[in-house]
Amino acid sequence: MWRDLLPVGRDSGTGGYRRYAWTPADADCRAWFRDQAAARALTYEVDRNGNQWAWLGDPAAGDAVVTGSHLDSVPDGGAFDGPLGVISSFAALDELRARGATPTRPLAIVNFTDEEGARFGVACAGSRLTAGRLTPEHARQLRDADGVTLAAAMEKAGQDPEAIGADPERLARIGAFVELHVEQGRALDLSGDAVGVASAIWPHGRWRFDFAGEANHAGTTRLDDRRDPMLTYANTVLAARKKARLAGALATFGKVAVEPNGVNAIASLVRGWLDSRAADEATLADLVAAIEQAATERGARDGVAVTVVRESFTPVVEFAHDLRDRLTALLGGAATVPVLPTGAGHDAGILAAAVPTAMLFVRNPTGVSHSPAESAAEDDCVAGVTALADVLEGLACS
Ligand code: GLV
Ligand code: MN
Ligand code: MN
Repeated sequence: MWRDLLPVGRDSGTGGYRRYAWTPADADCRAWFRDQAAARALTYEVDRNGNQWAWLGDPAAGDAVVTGSHLDSVPDGGAFDGPLGVISSFAALDELRARGATPTRPLAIVNFTDEEGARFGVACAGSRLTAGRLTPEHARQLRDADGVTLAAAMEKAGQDPEAIGADPERLARIGAFVELHVEQGRALDLSGDAVGVASAIWPHGRWRFDFAGEANHAGTTRLDDRRDPMLTYANTVLAARKKARLAGALATFGKVAVEPNGVNAIASLVRGWLDSRAADEATLADLVAAIEQAATERGARDGVAVTVVRESFTPVVEFAHDLRDRLTALLGGAATVPVLPTGAGHDAGILAAAVPTAMLFVRNPTGVSHSPAESAAEDDCVAGVTALADVLEGLACS
């Protein structure tokens, strides 16, 4: 499975993946998923939001055990974030069959579309739509950097954008969702464990900061006459870092767009995207408000107007305690399996409000993620598959 998927959407220059939703690379990933389902004689379907499902057993029977993750990537992402969960799901199903385990509940593998939100800005768009946490009207008009709407991109890829929306009937069929994911930190490396169970996801969100100044000549405009939004932006980046450190939280400006983006012109507009996360929602709200205030105050000095739009938000997720404890017990008990929180967002976090949900993490020896350097050892990946098979067998088989 890795051999087939590894070249798809990989940039030969950076070695990173560019598998953005509804692009040809995404279509290749989706074709791979469909082929994996067919090779195992699973019932394949695409739901109204473009998420792919592969079923063993009758979906309509209800109380299904679902596992899976996503196949899209961030810009120049690593090989494991998402695909490890999908590949492990198919491999765990193979393992169950090899063990001769007989499912007494329907089992499904899912590929949630557009988890990273790299192209249209909203993370977990596929699961959010399904859970009714993103309205179809809002989703359809989201635009990528070239101005292409999500609706147009879906249509081009053969998916009907008019059909998207909440899917409570589908969610009602799921009795448990378990997502396996490469760890995006070093907790397991530090504890010396190959696999862990998730306890919670920090609340997190994305905010777009528009800094509007005035374009002018870089060689002739006196410093005192400038309204330079780059200056306000730069100060905001520094303020965000300082305030995040003071709050014990995280704030990152990782994406920026500049207009007109000329080397010899003062910018007219700088647009920066803030990703911020904290252990609790009050800390996060206070931190973002403080960053916005710092930006506005600095903007007033620079003659730059600052506007802030929240583009997405995910409240704190506390995974279902019963299911978490069941997973821990199936994997040998709390003394052998660490239970840990994460600052990374996942479709599991979106589903958790509607369905009992749990996650397994596989050790990442460097902790690096959202980068081509992301890694996991083969033995640990195999341990992840075994753990997922143990969990699926315990939950869904007689
Ligand atoms: C998803 O990977 C996120 O946490 O941004
Ligand atoms: Mn990710
Ligand atoms: Mn992921």
